[in-house]
Amino acid sequence: MKTSLFFVCFFQILATAICRSDEHVLRGSLSDVKYPIILGHEGAGIVESVGSSVTDIKPGDKVIPLFVPQCGTCRCCLNPESNFCYKNVFSYSNRSSKSDDTIFTCNGTSVSNFLDTGTFTEYTVVEDISVAKIHKDAPLDKVCLIGCGFSTGYGSAMNTAKVKPGSTCAVFGLGGVGLSVIIGCKVAGASRIIGIDFNTNKFAKAKECGATECINPKDYDRPIHEVLAEMTEGGVDYSFEVIGNTEVMESALTSSHFGYGTTIIVGVAPSSAKMSFDPSLLLTGRTMKGSIFGGWKSKDHVPKLVCDYMNKKFNLDMLITHKLPFEKINEGFKLLCNGESIRTVLTL
Ligand code: APR
Ligand code: ZN
Ligand code: ZN
Repeated sequence: MKTSLFFVCFFQILATAICRSDEHVLRGSLSDVKYPIILGHEGAGIVESVGSSVTDIKPGDKVIPLFVPQCGTCRCCLNPESNFCYKNVFSYSNRSSKSDDTIFTCNGTSVSNFLDTGTFTEYTVVEDISVAKIHKDAPLDKVCLIGCGFSTGYGSAMNTAKVKPGSTCAVFGLGGVGLSVIIGCKVAGASRIIGIDFNTNKFAKAKECGATECINPKDYDRPIHEVLAEMTEGGVDYSFEVIGNTEVMESALTSSHFGYGTTIIVGVAPSSAKMSFDPSLLLTGRTMKGSIFGGWKSKDHVPKLVCDYMNKKFNLDMLITHKLPFEKINEGFKLLCNGESIRTVLTL
């Protein structure tokens, strides 16, 4: 399917953060992407020009590209419970129809753009269903996080789990997405939020975001779900896997209380990964769900999330540990891989 020029939006990217999913592609663990590829999917910029059929966006507008689009007419867009538009880049039918049709080329070679956003570039072009106009005063070097990590984590607590006030939550993985889950659990009124990570250096920031306790699986000689069961009299109300590791997904499921516990899968596992677990964990009343982009209908909700940030409903500034000029992007990836950063924002 060729992108029609009538419906495109061409914009300059002024700020973009590095997410673990970009690094998954660098490592080759997401096998369905085609190389060479422009990575990056957590960005914000200013529109230069639009196709003649684009009505809601104009040159000069501030925008955030959307890796989950919202066409507004497919079965998912029309279903109030779903945000997974048919035009997404994840579903198998779309992957196979994508063939070698790319917007970008370099010296005659096709170059893909990751998740149809590809924000590690000065200028990009996307379809109008994949871009949201945001508030004219929004600080792009902060709200770029709403393009992925923040919204994904925050929404998985608010929309997918629908965390209830007074509940107990366990968050496995304290990177930028996991910390955003914690912010969501806190805003939703959870009374206990337990952070789990094997890097103890992540604990201080997790507590700043709202974790009430943090534990390191390396400190125990028994499975972490047993530790959590002891801490919570039988298991947590909600558990979140925010790493992308199938063994941890199973731990998260086992950590939730039988009869009513809910587990949300947020982390992106390698393409070849398969899960295997005792089905009686579900039979005994647990629920396991996945959350993509935190369940937000992207084009509708991203502008609102930007306003919520500007109105101080939540603070995402604490997720930004480093700011670098765009040309130091490799340094940003090193910080992520060494476990030293939460989010590095690259600016022009
Ligand atoms: N047990 C405990 N903690 C772990 C484990 C493990 N087996 N493996 C990794 N971690 C911790 C890391 O120490 C790190 O703090 O999980 C955290 C993951 O954070 P980041 O690498 O910063 O990743 P983030 O950007 O938050 O993304 C998390 O969500 O969107 C997806 O693709 C993304 O799968 C990734 C996940
Ligand atoms: Zn991401
Ligand atoms: Zn749709």
